[in-house]
Amino acid sequence: MALINSRVTTDILHYRPRRLRSTASLRRMVRETTLSVNDLIYPMFVTESEGQKVEIVSMPECYRYSLDLLLQEVQQAFNLGINAVALFPVIPEQQKDDMARESYNPDGLIQRTIKAIKQAVPEIVVITDIALDPFTTHGHDGLVDEKGIILNDPTVEVLVKMAISQATAGATFVAPSDMMDGRVGAIRQALDTAGYFDVGILAYSAKYASAYYGPFRDALDSAPKFGDKKTYQMDAANAREALKEVDLDIAEGADIVMVKPALAYLDIIHQVRNATQLPIAAYNVSGEYAMIKAAAQMGWIDEKQIILETLTSMKRAGADLILTYFAKEVALMLA
Ligand code: PBG
Repeated sequence: MALINSRVTTDILHYRPRRLRSTASLRRMVRETTLSVNDLIYPMFVTESEGQKVEIVSMPECYRYSLDLLLQEVQQAFNLGINAVALFPVIPEQQKDDMARESYNPDGLIQRTIKAIKQAVPEIVVITDIALDPFTTHGHDGLVDEKGIILNDPTVEVLVKMAISQATAGATFVAPSDMMDGRVGAIRQALDTAGYFDVGILAYSAKYASAYYGPFRDALDSAPKFGDKKTYQMDAANAREALKEVDLDIAEGADIVMVKPALAYLDIIHQVRNATQLPIAAYNVSGEYAMIKAAAQMGWIDEKQIILETLTSMKRAGADLILTYFAKEVALMLA
């Protein structure tokens, strides 16, 4: 009883922050960050063949879709309020070569997919990846010389062809994820020269060399056959360098900048937020997805709560948009 009557000395405790947490209504009123379906971009994997939907082993409940089934999934996503999809093609081994020629084939898988989506769900924003790794035999994002060095400027020439072919097919945004120097400027110039002024660039500006991409490389069968990506993707220890990359991409014409991965790089998202007025996208990558799914399958965490808390932290850090394999799940939860 003594406890109930006891009071912290009132002249010290002028303010009791718990007052604003005392009911759900109050908490909603003072909530600083809101996750909305409008923030979500749904990354999807498309593969050749028909009537197929194959689960990715390291990404439970995430699938490689053949085009026909992908269209159904895109339609469902759009019906749930998701505004945008980001597409990644799974290219059969026999179509890969060391020059990534398939990447700009006007009748290639990704080009056909863009056209089909634009026809089936004309309003959805179609974002396409620009990088050579799905198309090269060695799995690197760029062209490689005999010594195994990733060549910058010759790669940018191929990336430009890729961007033009995707724009021609109807992409709303192209998203260079390759981390070659100067690619955003080269792509912007080529798009403008070809009359594609309205095709935007979502630049993977601060993209780190990360072990969190492991499951994605399983999904695409695109793990590098030799070496790693550390000569083009950023060192995980660097923050100032991220701001430099963002500055360059903005100067070169990026419309939206991205930080990737998201969860281990919330400080970077926050710093980029203070450095630009452009929209910022955060990529909640495959490894972040896999960790949550695995722990949830073990029954060790509350999956739904963890997803909402994780994605909210990305918004709170300063992201406007989140690429996430949880997009549909989140849209359903928010509905
Ligand atoms: C390709 C690319 C990668 C991802 C997106 N685009 C892999 C990589 O750079 O090796 C990773 C996405 C994810 O892990 O969810 N350049």
